[in-house]
Amino acid sequence: MTLVRFQGFGATSLEAEVSGDEHDPAILLVHGAGQTRAVWSVVVEGLVQAGRRVINLDLRGHGGSDWPESGAYDLDAHVGDLRAVLAQLGSRPVVVAATLGGWIAALALETDAANLAAGLVLVDMPVGADPETAKRIGERLRQQPSQGDARWDPRAVAHLDIEVVRQRLLRAAPALVLPTQVVRGGIGWVGQAASSIEFDALLPNAEVVEVEDADLLVVTDRTEAFLGRLLDFLERKQPRSAAEFRAGSDARTLRDAMGCFATGVTIVTACDAQGTPIGLTANSFTSVSLDPPLLLVCIANTAGTAPILREASHFGVNVLQTSQQPASNRFAGKGEDRFAATPWTPGETGVPLLDGSLVSFECRRHAVHDGGDHFILVGKVVRAAFEPRRDPLLYFRGKYRRLHFT
Ligand SMILES: Cc1cc2nc3c(=O)[nH]c(=O)nc-3n(C[C@H](O)[C@H](O)[C@H](O)COP(=O)(O)O)c2cc1C
Repeated sequence: MTLVRFQGFGATSLEAEVSGDEHDPAILLVHGAGQTRAVWSVVVEGLVQAGRRVINLDLRGHGGSDWPESGAYDLDAHVGDLRAVLAQLGSRPVVVAATLGGWIAALALETDAANLAAGLVLVDMPVGADPETAKRIGERLRQQPSQGDARWDPRAVAHLDIEVVRQRLLRAAPALVLPTQVVRGGIGWVGQAASSIEFDALLPNAEVVEVEDADLLVVTDRTEAFLGRLLDFLERKQPRSAAEFRAGSDARTLRDAMGCFATGVTIVTACDAQGTPIGLTANSFTSVSLDPPLLLVCIANTAGTAPILREASHFGVNVLQTSQQPASNRFAGKGEDRFAATPWTPGETGVPLLDGSLVSFECRRHAVHDGGDHFILVGKVVRAAFEPRRDPLLYFRGKYRRLHFT
Protein backbone atom coordinates (compact mmCIF):
# COMPACT_ATOMS: atom_id res chain seq x y z
CA MET A 1 0.00 0.00 0.00
CA THR A 2 1.32 3.46 -0.84
CA LEU A 3 -0.03 6.91 -0.04
CA VAL A 4 -0.53 9.14 -3.05
CA ARG A 5 -1.59 12.79 -3.20
CA PHE A 6 -3.75 14.08 -6.02
CA GLN A 7 -4.27 17.69 -7.03
CA GLY A 8 -7.94 18.40 -6.47
CA PHE A 9 -10.14 21.32 -7.47
CA GLY A 10 -8.51 24.70 -6.76
CA ALA A 11 -5.45 24.32 -4.56
CA THR A 12 -6.89 21.41 -2.57
CA SER A 13 -4.77 18.32 -2.28
CA LEU A 14 -6.39 14.91 -1.77
CA GLU A 15 -4.89 11.82 -0.20
CA ALA A 16 -5.47 8.24 -1.40
CA GLU A 17 -4.20 4.81 -0.46
CA VAL A 18 -3.18 2.81 -3.50
CA SER A 19 -2.99 -1.00 -3.25
CA GLY A 20 -2.52 -3.85 -5.70
CA ASP A 21 -0.52 -4.40 -8.86
CA GLU A 22 -0.21 -1.36 -11.13
CA HIS A 23 -1.02 -3.48 -14.19
CA ASP A 24 -4.35 -4.67 -12.80
CA PRO A 25 -7.65 -2.96 -13.70
CA ALA A 26 -8.25 0.06 -11.46
CA ILE A 27 -11.04 0.71 -8.98
CA LEU A 28 -11.54 4.17 -7.45
CA LEU A 29 -13.32 4.08 -4.08
CA VAL A 30 -15.22 7.15 -2.88
CA HIS A 31 -16.53 7.03 0.67
CA GLY A 32 -19.69 8.67 1.91
CA ALA A 33 -20.80 11.29 4.39
CA GLY A 34 -19.57 10.92 7.94
CA GLN A 35 -16.83 8.50 6.87
CA THR A 36 -13.31 8.36 5.56
CA ARG A 37 -11.60 5.90 3.24
CA ALA A 38 -11.14 3.61 6.32
CA VAL A 39 -14.71 2.41 5.76
CA TRP A 40 -13.52 0.41 2.74
CA SER A 41 -10.68 -1.54 4.42
CA VAL A 42 -12.22 -5.03 4.03
CA VAL A 43 -13.45 -4.20 0.52
CA VAL A 44 -9.93 -3.11 -0.50
CA GLU A 45 -8.50 -6.42 0.66
CA GLY A 46 -11.10 -8.41 -1.28
CA LEU A 47 -10.57 -6.37 -4.45
CA VAL A 48 -6.79 -6.71 -4.35
CA GLN A 49 -7.13 -10.47 -3.85
CA ALA A 50 -9.41 -10.55 -6.88
CA GLY A 51 -6.67 -8.91 -8.97
CA ARG A 52 -7.62 -5.24 -8.92
CA ARG A 53 -5.63 -2.11 -8.27
CA VAL A 54 -7.46 0.02 -5.73
CA ILE A 55 -7.28 3.79 -5.27
CA ASN A 56 -9.02 4.56 -1.99
CA LEU A 57 -9.63 8.30 -1.83
CA ASP A 58 -10.35 10.65 1.06
CA LEU A 59 -12.75 13.42 0.06
CA ARG A 60 -11.76 16.99 0.91
CA GLY A 61 -12.39 17.70 4.57
CA HIS A 62 -11.98 14.01 5.38
CA GLY A 63 -9.03 11.96 6.72
CA GLY A 64 -5.70 12.81 5.12
CA SER A 65 -7.01 15.16 2.42
CA ASP A 66 -6.88 18.95 2.82
CA TRP A 67 -9.51 20.57 4.99
CA PRO A 68 -9.98 23.89 3.17
CA GLU A 69 -9.99 26.81 5.59
CA SER A 70 -12.61 28.54 3.51
CA GLY A 71 -14.99 25.65 4.20
CA ALA A 72 -15.54 25.07 0.47
CA TYR A 73 -17.55 21.85 0.76
CA ASP A 74 -20.26 22.49 -1.78
CA LEU A 75 -21.10 19.64 -4.13
CA ASP A 76 -19.37 21.32 -7.07
CA ALA A 77 -16.05 21.50 -5.21
CA HIS A 78 -16.26 17.73 -4.59
CA VAL A 79 -17.26 17.10 -8.20
CA GLY A 80 -14.30 19.21 -9.37
CA ASP A 81 -12.01 17.17 -7.11
CA LEU A 82 -13.20 13.86 -8.48
CA ARG A 83 -12.91 14.94 -12.10
CA ALA A 84 -9.37 16.14 -11.37
CA VAL A 85 -8.44 12.80 -9.77
CA LEU A 86 -9.93 10.84 -12.70
CA ALA A 87 -7.90 12.93 -15.12
CA GLN A 88 -4.70 12.14 -13.19
CA LEU A 89 -5.19 8.36 -13.20
CA GLY A 90 -3.27 6.34 -15.79
CA SER A 91 -6.30 4.25 -16.80
CA ARG A 92 -10.06 4.51 -16.56
CA PRO A 93 -11.21 3.01 -13.27
CA VAL A 94 -14.55 1.62 -12.19
CA VAL A 95 -15.75 4.20 -9.66
CA VAL A 96 -17.36 2.68 -6.57
CA ALA A 97 -19.03 5.34 -4.46
CA ALA A 98 -21.24 5.31 -1.37
CA THR A 99 -23.97 7.77 -0.22
CA LEU A 100 -22.59 11.33 -0.60
CA GLY A 101 -19.75 9.80 -2.68
CA GLY A 102 -22.42 8.50 -5.05
CA TRP A 103 -23.80 11.99 -5.58
CA ILE A 104 -20.31 13.25 -6.31
CA ALA A 105 -19.48 10.39 -8.69
CA ALA A 106 -22.77 10.55 -10.59
CA LEU A 107 -22.43 14.32 -11.11
CA ALA A 108 -18.71 14.09 -11.94
CA LEU A 109 -19.47 11.60 -14.71
CA GLU A 110 -22.39 13.58 -16.15
CA THR A 111 -19.99 14.90 -18.79
CA ASP A 112 -17.63 12.51 -20.62
CA ALA A 113 -18.60 9.49 -18.52
CA ALA A 114 -17.21 6.86 -20.87
CA ASN A 115 -13.91 8.69 -21.30
CA LEU A 116 -13.33 9.10 -17.59
CA ALA A 117 -14.44 5.78 -16.14
CA ALA A 118 -14.96 2.14 -17.13
CA GLY A 119 -17.94 1.68 -14.86
CA LEU A 120 -19.87 3.11 -11.92
CA VAL A 121 -21.16 1.46 -8.76
CA LEU A 122 -23.49 3.54 -6.59
CA VAL A 123 -23.95 2.17 -3.09
CA ASP A 124 -26.75 3.30 -0.78
CA MET A 125 -27.05 6.56 -2.67
CA PRO A 126 -30.20 8.42 -1.66
CA VAL A 127 -32.01 10.19 -4.49
CA GLY A 128 -34.01 12.84 -2.79
CA ALA A 129 -35.93 12.47 0.45
CA ASP A 130 -38.44 14.46 2.40
CA PRO A 131 -36.65 16.88 4.74
CA GLU A 132 -37.55 14.79 7.80
CA THR A 133 -35.96 11.60 6.41
CA ALA A 134 -32.92 13.54 5.23
CA LYS A 135 -32.46 14.96 8.71
CA ARG A 136 -32.77 11.53 10.32
CA ILE A 137 -30.22 10.00 7.94
CA GLY A 138 -27.83 12.87 8.59
CA GLU A 139 -28.10 12.42 12.35
CA ARG A 140 -27.53 8.68 12.24
CA LEU A 141 -24.53 9.08 9.98
CA ARG A 142 -23.04 11.65 12.32
CA GLN A 143 -23.47 9.26 15.27
CA GLN A 144 -21.53 6.50 13.52
CA PRO A 145 -18.48 5.44 15.53
CA SER A 146 -15.36 6.59 13.73
CA GLN A 147 -13.12 3.85 12.32
CA GLY A 148 -9.52 4.06 13.52
CA ASP A 149 -8.39 7.63 13.31
CA ALA A 150 -11.23 8.45 10.93
CA ARG A 151 -11.92 12.14 11.16
CA TRP A 152 -13.77 14.68 9.12
CA ASP A 153 -14.45 18.37 9.22
CA PRO A 154 -17.99 18.75 10.63
CA ARG A 155 -18.61 21.51 8.09
CA ALA A 156 -18.17 18.92 5.31
CA VAL A 157 -21.40 17.13 6.16
CA ALA A 158 -23.48 20.22 6.82
CA HIS A 159 -26.25 21.59 4.71
CA LEU A 160 -26.76 20.08 1.30
CA ASP A 161 -30.16 20.86 -0.12
CA ILE A 162 -31.43 17.37 -0.92
CA GLU A 163 -34.15 18.63 -3.26
CA VAL A 164 -31.55 20.41 -5.39
CA VAL A 165 -29.43 17.24 -5.36
CA ARG A 166 -32.42 15.17 -6.48
CA GLN A 167 -33.03 17.39 -9.48
CA ARG A 168 -29.37 17.35 -10.47
CA LEU A 169 -29.19 13.55 -10.18
CA LEU A 170 -32.25 13.06 -12.36
CA ARG A 171 -30.72 15.40 -14.94
CA ALA A 172 -27.37 13.55 -14.86
CA ALA A 173 -28.74 9.98 -15.02
CA PRO A 174 -29.36 9.73 -18.82
CA ALA A 175 -25.77 10.86 -19.47
CA LEU A 176 -24.23 8.06 -17.41
CA VAL A 177 -23.59 5.91 -20.47
CA LEU A 178 -21.30 3.38 -18.80
CA PRO A 179 -21.89 0.02 -17.12
CA THR A 180 -23.56 0.90 -13.84
CA GLN A 181 -24.51 -1.08 -10.78
CA VAL A 182 -26.88 0.41 -8.21
CA VAL A 183 -26.60 -1.31 -4.83
CA ARG A 184 -29.24 -0.58 -2.22
CA GLY A 185 -30.09 -2.02 1.15
CA GLY A 186 -28.90 0.47 3.70
CA ILE A 187 -30.57 3.61 4.88
CA GLY A 188 -30.24 5.28 1.50
CA TRP A 189 -33.16 3.13 0.39
CA VAL A 190 -35.48 3.91 3.26
CA GLY A 191 -38.35 6.20 2.48
CA GLN A 192 -37.13 7.27 -0.94
CA ALA A 193 -38.17 4.44 -3.18
CA ALA A 194 -40.08 6.67 -5.60
CA SER A 195 -37.23 8.99 -6.58
CA SER A 196 -34.75 6.11 -6.56
CA ILE A 197 -36.85 4.10 -9.00
CA GLU A 198 -37.19 7.19 -11.20
CA PHE A 199 -33.41 7.64 -11.14
CA ASP A 200 -32.69 3.95 -11.90
CA ALA A 201 -35.06 4.02 -14.88
CA LEU A 202 -33.17 6.96 -16.39
CA LEU A 203 -29.79 5.18 -16.26
CA PRO A 204 -28.94 3.90 -19.76
CA ASN A 205 -26.91 0.83 -18.75
CA ALA A 206 -27.67 -0.12 -15.17
CA GLU A 207 -28.47 -3.12 -13.07
CA VAL A 208 -30.02 -2.71 -9.64
CA VAL A 209 -29.12 -4.98 -6.77
CA GLU A 210 -30.74 -5.11 -3.39
CA VAL A 211 -28.78 -6.44 -0.43
CA GLU A 212 -30.96 -7.58 2.43
CA ASP A 213 -30.46 -7.18 6.15
CA ALA A 214 -28.34 -4.06 6.18
CA ASP A 215 -29.14 -1.73 9.04
CA LEU A 216 -27.52 1.59 8.25
CA LEU A 217 -25.08 0.94 5.41
CA VAL A 218 -24.52 -2.00 3.08
CA VAL A 219 -20.75 -1.48 3.02
CA THR A 220 -20.33 -1.81 6.78
CA ASP A 221 -23.27 -4.05 7.74
CA ARG A 222 -23.19 -6.57 4.89
CA THR A 223 -19.60 -6.23 3.71
CA GLU A 224 -19.16 -9.78 2.35
CA ALA A 225 -22.52 -9.77 0.56
CA PHE A 226 -21.68 -6.39 -0.95
CA LEU A 227 -18.22 -7.55 -2.02
CA GLY A 228 -19.71 -10.63 -3.68
CA ARG A 229 -22.11 -8.52 -5.76
CA LEU A 230 -19.37 -6.03 -6.61
CA LEU A 231 -16.91 -8.73 -7.75
CA ASP A 232 -19.61 -10.35 -9.86
CA PHE A 233 -20.25 -7.00 -11.58
CA LEU A 234 -16.54 -6.38 -12.10
CA GLU A 235 -15.89 -9.86 -13.54
CA ARG A 236 -18.60 -9.24 -16.13
CA LYS A 237 -18.02 -5.56 -16.93
CA GLN A 238 -14.31 -5.08 -16.29
CA PRO A 239 -12.84 -8.50 -17.06
CA ARG A 240 -9.16 -8.94 -16.34
CA SER A 241 -7.44 -9.45 -19.67
CA ALA A 242 -6.11 -13.00 -19.81
CA ALA A 243 -2.41 -13.29 -20.59
CA GLU A 244 -1.54 -15.60 -23.46
CA PHE A 245 1.46 -17.64 -24.47
CA ARG A 246 1.92 -18.89 -28.00
CA ALA A 247 4.85 -20.86 -29.36
CA GLY A 248 7.50 -18.25 -30.04
CA SER A 249 6.34 -15.89 -27.25
CA ASP A 250 8.85 -15.02 -24.58
CA ALA A 251 9.80 -17.66 -22.01
CA ARG A 252 8.72 -15.37 -19.18
CA THR A 253 5.06 -15.61 -20.28
CA LEU A 254 5.30 -19.41 -20.44
CA ARG A 255 6.83 -19.44 -16.99
CA ASP A 256 3.92 -17.34 -15.70
CA ALA A 257 1.50 -19.78 -17.31
CA MET A 258 3.28 -22.76 -15.72
CA GLY A 259 3.29 -20.90 -12.40
CA CYS A 260 -0.51 -21.24 -12.30
CA PHE A 261 0.02 -24.84 -11.26
CA ALA A 262 0.56 -24.87 -7.48
CA THR A 263 3.28 -27.24 -6.32
CA GLY A 264 5.26 -28.25 -3.31
CA VAL A 265 9.00 -27.63 -3.19
CA THR A 266 11.75 -30.25 -3.11
CA ILE A 267 15.52 -30.32 -2.79
CA VAL A 268 17.10 -32.97 -5.01
CA THR A 269 20.37 -34.32 -3.64
CA ALA A 270 23.17 -36.70 -4.61
CA CYS A 271 26.91 -37.20 -4.04
CA ASP A 272 29.63 -36.49 -6.58
CA ALA A 273 32.44 -38.93 -7.41
CA GLN A 274 34.40 -37.76 -4.36
CA GLY A 275 31.40 -38.33 -2.08
CA THR A 276 30.74 -34.59 -1.63
CA PRO A 277 27.01 -33.79 -1.27
CA ILE A 278 25.35 -31.72 -3.99
CA GLY A 279 21.75 -30.55 -4.38
CA LEU A 280 19.37 -28.04 -5.87
CA THR A 281 15.82 -26.77 -5.29
CA ALA A 282 13.25 -28.19 -7.72
CA ASN A 283 9.46 -28.03 -7.91
CA SER A 284 9.22 -30.14 -11.08
CA PHE A 285 8.66 -33.23 -8.96
CA THR A 286 5.97 -35.72 -10.04
CA SER A 287 4.99 -39.16 -8.88
CA VAL A 288 5.05 -41.45 -11.91
CA SER A 289 4.19 -45.05 -11.06
CA LEU A 290 3.21 -47.17 -8.06
CA ASP A 291 4.36 -50.50 -9.49
CA PRO A 292 7.21 -50.20 -10.02
CA PRO A 293 7.52 -47.20 -7.63
CA LEU A 294 8.77 -44.36 -9.81
CA LEU A 295 9.05 -40.59 -9.52
CA LEU A 296 10.63 -37.88 -11.65
CA VAL A 297 12.21 -34.46 -11.48
CA CYS A 298 13.20 -32.20 -14.37
CA ILE A 299 16.67 -30.66 -14.11
CA ALA A 300 17.93 -27.79 -16.24
CA ASN A 301 20.82 -28.83 -18.48
CA THR A 302 22.55 -25.61 -17.47
CA ALA A 303 22.34 -26.28 -13.71
CA GLY A 304 25.75 -26.61 -12.06
CA THR A 305 24.63 -29.86 -10.46
CA ALA A 306 23.24 -31.29 -13.74
CA PRO A 307 26.29 -33.36 -14.78
CA ILE A 308 26.44 -35.05 -11.37
CA LEU A 309 22.68 -35.74 -11.17
CA ARG A 310 22.71 -37.15 -14.70
CA GLU A 311 25.37 -39.71 -13.74
CA ALA A 312 24.61 -40.44 -10.09
CA SER A 313 23.56 -44.04 -9.37
CA HIS A 314 21.32 -42.78 -6.54
CA PHE A 315 19.62 -39.49 -5.67
CA GLY A 316 17.37 -38.14 -2.95
CA VAL A 317 14.21 -36.01 -3.21
CA ASN A 318 13.41 -34.08 -0.04
CA VAL A 319 9.91 -32.58 0.06
CA LEU A 320 10.08 -29.44 2.15
CA GLN A 321 7.88 -28.26 4.96
CA THR A 322 7.08 -24.67 5.86
CA SER A 323 10.10 -24.06 8.11
CA GLN A 324 12.51 -25.09 5.34
CA GLN A 325 11.96 -22.01 3.17
CA PRO A 326 15.49 -20.74 3.99
CA ALA A 327 16.89 -24.08 2.77
CA SER A 328 14.87 -23.76 -0.43
CA ASN A 329 16.44 -20.34 -1.04
CA ARG A 330 19.91 -21.62 -0.19
CA PHE A 331 19.67 -24.52 -2.67
CA ALA A 332 18.35 -22.18 -5.39
CA GLY A 333 20.90 -19.44 -4.79
CA LYS A 334 24.54 -18.88 -5.52
CA GLY A 335 27.51 -18.56 -3.25
CA GLU A 336 26.42 -20.02 0.07
CA ASP A 337 27.69 -23.44 1.14
CA ARG A 338 24.37 -25.27 0.83
CA PHE A 339 25.11 -28.23 3.08
CA ALA A 340 27.14 -26.42 5.76
CA ALA A 341 24.06 -24.45 6.78
CA THR A 342 21.55 -27.31 6.41
CA PRO A 343 21.37 -30.25 8.85
CA TRP A 344 21.46 -33.53 6.91
CA THR A 345 22.19 -37.23 7.35
CA PRO A 346 23.30 -39.83 4.79
CA GLY A 347 20.51 -42.27 3.89
CA GLU A 348 20.85 -46.02 3.49
CA THR A 349 22.07 -45.54 -0.07
CA GLY A 350 24.48 -42.79 0.98
CA VAL A 351 22.44 -39.91 -0.57
CA PRO A 352 22.16 -36.80 1.63
CA LEU A 353 18.72 -36.52 3.30
CA LEU A 354 17.75 -33.18 4.82
CA ASP A 355 16.68 -33.37 8.46
CA GLY A 356 13.06 -32.46 9.17
CA SER A 357 11.78 -32.84 5.61
CA LEU A 358 8.14 -33.69 5.11
CA VAL A 359 9.24 -36.78 3.21
CA SER A 360 12.62 -37.88 1.88
CA PHE A 361 12.68 -40.31 -1.05
CA GLU A 362 15.83 -42.29 -1.71
CA CYS A 363 15.95 -43.38 -5.35
CA ARG A 364 18.06 -45.49 -7.67
CA ARG A 365 18.45 -43.97 -11.12
CA HIS A 366 15.90 -45.64 -13.39
CA ALA A 367 16.04 -43.59 -16.59
CA VAL A 368 17.17 -40.24 -17.96
CA HIS A 369 15.11 -38.74 -20.79
CA ASP A 370 15.73 -35.74 -22.95
CA GLY A 371 13.35 -32.87 -22.14
CA GLY A 372 14.41 -29.88 -24.23
CA ASP A 373 16.53 -27.54 -22.10
CA HIS A 374 15.91 -29.87 -19.12
CA PHE A 375 16.40 -33.59 -18.66
CA ILE A 376 13.88 -35.83 -16.99
CA LEU A 377 15.42 -37.83 -14.19
CA VAL A 378 13.31 -40.86 -13.32
CA GLY A 379 14.10 -42.65 -10.06
CA LYS A 380 12.97 -45.93 -8.57
CA VAL A 381 12.02 -45.34 -4.95
CA VAL A 382 14.12 -47.49 -2.62
CA ARG A 383 12.87 -45.93 0.60
CA ALA A 384 10.61 -43.07 1.69
CA ALA A 385 10.76 -41.70 5.22
CA PHE A 386 7.97 -39.28 6.00
CA GLU A 387 6.54 -37.17 8.74
CA PRO A 388 2.76 -36.92 8.58
CA ARG A 389 2.22 -34.01 10.94
CA ARG A 390 4.00 -31.13 9.24
CA ASP A 391 2.61 -28.66 6.74
CA PRO A 392 4.10 -28.40 3.24
CA LEU A 393 5.99 -25.47 1.80
CA LEU A 394 4.07 -24.51 -1.33
CA TYR A 395 5.01 -22.59 -4.45
CA PHE A 396 2.51 -20.77 -6.65
CA ARG A 397 2.88 -17.92 -9.15
CA GLY A 398 6.52 -17.40 -8.22
CA LYS A 399 5.90 -17.11 -4.47
CA TYR A 400 6.12 -19.38 -1.47
CA ARG A 401 2.76 -20.16 0.11
CA ARG A 402 1.35 -22.03 3.03
CA LEU A 403 -1.80 -24.14 3.20
CA HIS A 404 -4.68 -22.00 4.26
CA PHE A 405 -7.96 -23.48 5.36
CA THR A 406 -10.92 -21.24 5.98
C1 LIG B 1 10.77 -22.94 -6.07
C2 LIG B 1 11.87 -23.28 -7.05
C3 LIG B 1 11.71 -24.36 -7.90
C4 LIG B 1 12.71 -24.71 -8.80
N1 LIG B 1 12.54 -25.80 -9.59
C5 LIG B 1 13.53 -26.21 -10.43
C6 LIG B 1 13.40 -27.41 -11.19
O1 LIG B 1 12.38 -28.09 -11.13
N2 LIG B 1 14.43 -27.77 -12.00
C7 LIG B 1 15.57 -27.02 -12.10
O2 LIG B 1 16.47 -27.40 -12.84
N3 LIG B 1 15.72 -25.86 -11.38
C8 LIG B 1 14.74 -25.45 -10.53
N4 LIG B 1 14.89 -24.32 -9.78
C9 LIG B 1 16.08 -23.49 -9.96
C10 LIG B 1 17.30 -24.07 -9.28
O3 LIG B 1 17.06 -24.38 -7.92
C11 LIG B 1 18.43 -23.02 -9.34
O4 LIG B 1 18.68 -22.71 -10.68
C12 LIG B 1 19.70 -23.47 -8.67
O5 LIG B 1 20.54 -22.33 -8.50
C13 LIG B 1 20.45 -24.50 -9.44
O6 LIG B 1 21.61 -24.78 -8.71
P1 LIG B 1 22.94 -25.36 -9.43
O7 LIG B 1 23.23 -24.43 -10.57
O8 LIG B 1 23.95 -25.39 -8.36
O9 LIG B 1 22.56 -26.74 -9.91
C14 LIG B 1 13.90 -23.96 -8.87
C15 LIG B 1 14.05 -22.86 -8.02
C16 LIG B 1 13.05 -22.52 -7.10
C17 LIG B 1 13.23 -21.35 -6.18
